[in-house]
Amino acid sequence: MSSIRWVDKLKTNVQRIDEEHKELIRIFAELNEAILSGHSRSVITDVFQGLLNYTRTHFVTEEKLMLHYRYSDFSIHKEDHDRFVAEVMNHLKDYMENRVIPSQKIFHFLAHWLIEHIMGHDKKLGKFLNEQGVL
Ligand SMILES: [Fe+2]
Repeated sequence: MSSIRWVDKLKTNVQRIDEEHKELIRIFAELNEAILSGHSRSVITDVFQGLLNYTRTHFVTEEKLMLHYRYSDFSIHKEDHDRFVAEVMNHLKDYMENRVIPSQKIFHFLAHWLIEHIMGHDKKLGKFLNEQGVL
């Protein structure tokens, strides 16, 4: 995976979630671009921080919807979110503290997680929300 981009097969069919996923993927691509084009550490750190912030915002959107509609898989889905946030924070910390970790490797790891999460947990949630009349 050289980069990451939105494709229709990622659709959950819940408009707000899909829009936020598009934005998340846009920030991911921006991070990849910043790494590849050799931007300064401060630029990469800013994009990375932005990714962490937006990820948190987006997860709150999904978690509120899950709670509101009493989604039975809330805990398992939230655990996956929490693990991801912890991973992003760890990688960001490592990066900022200048420990030796190839940035592209971080990007690939995180991007892969995101796609897997959307294809599994989020599509399942989307189907459930559609059944509750949320489009
Ligand atoms: Fe999710």
